Amino acid sequence: MNIRTEKLEDIEAIRQVNRAAFGRETEANLVDKLRGIASIFSLVAVQSDRIVGHILFSPVAVVGNCSSNFSILGLAPVAVLPDYQRQGMGTLLIREGLKECVRSGFQAVVVLGNPDFYSRFGFIPASRKSLGCEYDVPDEAFMVLELESGALQDCSGMVKYRSEFRIFDENY
Ligand SMILES: CC(C)(COP(=O)(O)OP(=O)(O)OC[C@H]1O[C@@H](n2cnc3c(N)ncnc32)[C@H](O)[C@@H]1OP(=O)(O)O)[C@@H](O)C(=O)NCCC(=O)NCCS
Repeated sequence: MNIRTEKLEDIEAIRQVNRAAFGRETEANLVDKLRGIASIFSLVAVQSDRIVGHILFSPVAVVGNCSSNFSILGLAPVAVLPDYQRQGMGTLLIREGLKECVRSGFQAVVVLGNPDFYSRFGFIPASRKSLGCEYDVPDEAFMVLELESGALQDCSGMVKYRSEFRIFDENY
């Protein structure tokens, strides 16, 4: 299995992975909307020439007190085809994705999801770093990972996803 950056010809397969994993169109549509904006990382997991997993990171803003050069990404969505789940692919996609974020100089990543799953990568509740979520979700579900030690020391506020994420307003 190989993790690599998405290519133009992967677009339909990425749609299929997201559609199958989430059982709806919303995440697939979100990925299409986000494609092409600056500072996006979109990686695929390939097994025997088939795209079986996908992960995307996109820039988020912190409305509050942060230095202007602070750069933070949101991890969403991550998806693995149902038949390929629980074989370590999601874990690999997340680990490789986070490495790419570090290489590109980002200081932190946020994620909204299951704490049991994401804590294994070092994510902690964002509230412990004085970061809030714009959505009404349980405290422990909104998490952050510092990519540089102390990166969040002088940063606090409300994390805002890009406007493309409003696609969820109609679907939650
Ligand atoms: C979440 C997802 C990407 C994980 O991919 P995966 O390839 O199955 O994950 P891995 O095989 O690397 O890891 C599996 C482990 O994560 C746990 N896990 C997987 N999905 C989980 C979830 N949604 N919540 C909690 N734990 C989860 C499993 O219990 C398993 O734990 P174990 O190793 O102790 O048995 C995949 O299950 C998926 O596509 N789910 C549907 C879409 C989704 O919910 N995406 C995440 C929200 S953005």
